[in-house]
Amino acid sequence: MYNKVAIITGSSSGIGAGIALKLSSMGARVVVTGRDERRIQAVVEKCGFVSSGKVLGVRADLLVDTDVRDLVDQTIAAFGCIDILVNSAGIMRISPFDDRSYLDTFDEVMSGDLRCIQVLTHLVVPYIEATKGVIINISSLGGQRPAVEAIAYSMAKNALDMFTRCLAIDLGPKGVRVNGIAPGPIRTPIMDDNVVAMTENYCQSTFPVARIGETNDVSEMVAYLASDKSSFITGAIILVDGGAALV
Ligand SMILES: NC(=O)c1ccc[n+]([C@@H]2O[C@H](COP(=O)([O-])OP(=O)(O)OC[C@H]3O[C@@H](n4cnc5c(N)ncnc54)[C@H](OP(=O)(O)O)[C@@H]3O)[C@@H](O)[C@H]2O)c1
Repeated sequence: MYNKVAIITGSSSGIGAGIALKLSSMGARVVVTGRDERRIQAVVEKCGFVSSGKVLGVRADLLVDTDVRDLVDQTIAAFGCIDILVNSAGIMRISPFDDRSYLDTFDEVMSGDLRCIQVLTHLVVPYIEATKGVIINISSLGGQRPAVEAIAYSMAKNALDMFTRCLAIDLGPKGVRVNGIAPGPIRTPIMDDNVVAMTENYCQSTFPVARIGETNDVSEMVAYLASDKSSFITGAIILVDGGAALV
């Protein structure tokens, strides 16, 4: 991992921030990005504490194509290459199908969870091919099991998993591995405090591991998939869900 260059989207918060800290602590040069400048700087500082490696903070709204291009350009200007892309940025919206605003929510989720990943990955692939790097997409258990209260999210994550598999076939011969991680409930700001409390109780009473997930549960798997230790794994969607899919 030493000196590898990693762009981690959604690293101003939650799972992405945990991944940035983990890869930083392993010596990677990390790009921390999101929309909130203050939170980006907070994560950049934390990465600086755990590593002497270089950290770059870039504010970019992934819904704005020119911001996405700027994110890639700033990374290349600072570090000269890209070895690892982790697509972690995402939004979760409740979207029952009979809701009056369902189509608006559908468009918002498809843009925020799917289209922006296409735009960024399309720009990054030539650089990743040059380094024979890796791409890791943060999906969801909700992409594998129908979540009727969040249909659009469930569909977007399911489509993301198919993107992961297609790209693994496409880029495998070029030495690039592409994998997905499907987390179950993880304690992050994507849930408000009330939802976390309810989810904690549910996980304790229902999941085989009897607890809610933490960001390091995901970042440890990212570290493995980003390293050569996983060189025989591509096109996989790996559940990190405490056994939730079983029950
Ligand atoms: N937490 C869970 O239980 C869970 C479970 C399964 C899957 N996941 C997936 O894990 C990923 C990370 O979720 P999380 O729990 O870490 O959520 P989070 O704490 O809310 O973080 C979401 C991140 O995405 C960024 N983001 C959202 N929209 C963006 C945009 N348009 N442009 C740039 N950045 C944008 C946010 O940046 P700013 O805040 O700076 O705008 C933030 O850094 C998501 O893909 C989510 O679907 C989460």
